[in-house]
Amino acid sequence: MSRIIHKEDLAKDIIRLEVETPQIAKKARAGQFVVIIIEEQGERIPLTLANWDKDKGVISLIFQKVGFTTRKLGALNIGDSIGHILGPLGHATDARNIGTVICIGGGVGVAEVYPVCRAFKEAGNRLIGIIGSRSKDLLILENEMRGVCDELFIATDDGSAGHKGFVTDVLEEYFKTIEQSTNTRYPDLVYAIGPLPMMRAVSEFTRRYDVKTTVSLNPIMVDATGMCGSCRCSVAGKTVFACVDGPEFDGHQADFGELEKRLELFKDQEKKIDEKFSA
Ligand SMILES: Cc1cc2nc3c(=O)[nH]c(=O)nc-3n(C[C@H](O)[C@H](O)[C@H](O)COP(=O)(O)OP(=O)(O)OC[C@H]3O[C@@H](n4cnc5c(N)ncnc54)[C@H](O)[C@@H]3O)c2cc1C
Ligand code: FES
Repeated sequence: MSRIIHKEDLAKDIIRLEVETPQIAKKARAGQFVVIIIEEQGERIPLTLANWDKDKGVISLIFQKVGFTTRKLGALNIGDSIGHILGPLGHATDARNIGTVICIGGGVGVAEVYPVCRAFKEAGNRLIGIIGSRSKDLLILENEMRGVCDELFIATDDGSAGHKGFVTDVLEEYFKTIEQSTNTRYPDLVYAIGPLPMMRAVSEFTRRYDVKTTVSLNPIMVDATGMCGSCRCSVAGKTVFACVDGPEFDGHQADFGELEKRLELFKDQEKKIDEKFSA
């Protein structure tokens, strides 16, 4: 059992929990995730390690209430316990000093890109952040991202903060300024986490410039041990399991169309369960 010691609303339906899990906090690295099982017989859901404190033995999870289990998790309070937290799982980000890195986060993906930003910065890279959301009130971790990025750009769909439009518009503008400049090079890596269409659009754009692009794929996961096959994705024409081979992959090689179809598979059941239990 892991006790919740802090709970905070970051935006509408987006919550940060701090949970006591000394063993996970000790080993946690950027890019990794945990699997949460709130109670016996409960569903297993993957959540990214948004932050951790090895000394205090605490991890932070930031999640959006989108369905049955995330709503149930969001209903827990300080002092309550989560039945099981498994992790850290997945490969850590390969955050070496490579030069200039652009990190892009969309929606709750900002929480997932933040530890990756910290890792690239700590490795000595120049870091450009681009974060986006539908509107200003849904934007999270702006101050934390400002603290770690050399430059931070914001995009909101409705223009209530930063650039009006998508994070990909800001990325395109940034590349245009590089094209016109005599002393700025294209980035050495673009890293994107967020909704599937956003990661696909980023990857399609950077492919034109042959700029290496990493995405964190988010298929539905069940056991997260490589046994059940539910997180199967295709990358470079090969079958991979996001839980044990990823979740980070080459965005230019990922089959986003196939993943999109697989995510649709359980939509009807998820909707029915959510409606049944929230009625
Ligand atoms: C490696 C990994 C890390 C993740 N990290 C985070 C995180 O830090 N914060 C966060 O808010 N979410 C994260 N997710 C997504 C999160 O796991 C899902 O939102 C959650 O499983 C939904 O469960 P539910 O029962 O509340 O909703 P459900 O009713 O099961 O699903 C509601 C909606 O969420 C979609 N969904 C279901 N499972 C997933 C999934 N695994 N990935 C993406 N969409 C899904 C469904 O297609 C549906 O549209 C991560 C997913 C993966 C694979
Ligand atoms: S979640 Fe079962 S194989 Fe990855």
